[in-house]
Amino acid sequence: MSTSSITKMTAPPSTAYKIVDVPEAYADVIRRHGIPGTFVGASEEESPWVPFGPNAAIRHLLFDTRHNIFSNILWIKSAGVIGTHKHRGTVVMVCLEGSARYLEYDWVAGPGAFIHETPGLVHTLVTDHPDGVKLFGWLQGPIEFYDDKGTFVETLDVWWFINHYESYCREHGLPINTQLYV
Ligand SMILES: [Fe+2]
Repeated sequence: MSTSSITKMTAPPSTAYKIVDVPEAYADVIRRHGIPGTFVGASEEESPWVPFGPNAAIRHLLFDTRHNIFSNILWIKSAGVIGTHKHRGTVVMVCLEGSARYLEYDWVAGPGAFIHETPGLVHTLVTDHPDGVKLFGWLQGPIEFYDDKGTFVETLDVWWFINHYESYCREHGLPINTQLYV
């Protein structure tokens, strides 16, 4: 094969509006052991806003107990603070609405901004925006919360987030959406 025949993909190779069968050597293995993806629609019937203190709520999207991963939208409803916390894992977030920042850093995240947090970071999330902030988050690993004296209070992990969601559903007679569990 001459090097001139090697091409690099610069765009999707097909724009055909159809389902395409592709080769898969391990289709049977995937069928037996693969885990299907999930879908959670935007409505509160599929996942409600669960209060997280008087000025915030969490809309849970995914719980992965194998990897201690949880995904959600955090909504701080007006200017306010989510207490100081320490990460023992990795977090990625995208700001959807409003704005947020950390007291420890000099940037402000507005709609579309991307945030990456790594193990060992300790910081204090605030929003100065009158309408608060909505942050989509994909979070892995425990998060330790501290009070304003620096005293450890509680660890939030996938079990805490599942309990937060299920307790609210039970108290309000809402069905548990199995699509949130992978
Ligand atoms: Fe954080």
